[in-house]
Amino acid sequence: MKQVLTAAMAAPTAANQQAWEFVVITDRKILDAIPDVHPYSRMLLEAPAAVLVCGNLETETREGYYPQDCAAATQNILLAAHALGLGTVWLGVHPREERVTGVRKLLGIPAHVVPVALVAIGHPAESHPRIDRYDEKKVHRDTW
Ligand SMILES: Cc1cc2nc3c(=O)[nH]c(=O)nc-3n(C[C@H](O)[C@H](O)[C@H](O)COP(=O)(O)O)c2cc1C
Repeated sequence: MKQVLTAAMAAPTAANQQAWEFVVITDRKILDAIPDVHPYSRMLLEAPAAVLVCGNLETETREGYYPQDCAAATQNILLAAHALGLGTVWLGVHPREERVTGVRKLLGIPAHVVPVALVAIGHPAESHPRIDRYDEKKVHRDTW
């Protein structure tokens, strides 16, 4: 977990503001309760851990950038966990207000802290071949 969080906090942030907070969740009762407030998180019933990536509006110096900063941290968590042989799922929280409210209440997150994403972490039950999603039509050269 320390290696995963080290990778998270190595992510780039706007003006290097690092206005993030991480909640490491390993309490079985809390993991089991998350699907009650997040409709697409049922893998947590089997996962041994999750990390909640949050933006801190009080320490943010570049207003409005926290979702991008937290997304970069979240992606780093996915990559670091994968490199360690672990499996992950990114569970979007922000900007779904009902999920933000539910996660805040369940985990006691203060009002100035916005839960942006949960990452389920576990030992993968299966492995998948690499998916190539490269689509030339999405690439625009010099102008649209
Ligand atoms: C912002 C964001 C929110 C997501 N939210 C969920 C979610 O709530 N539940 C879930 O099972 N997967 C969620 N995912 C994972 C995507 O469904 C998944 O990345 C996508 O289907 C592609 O599959 P792959 O990552 O296995 O290639 C989310 C991914 C992102 C980037």
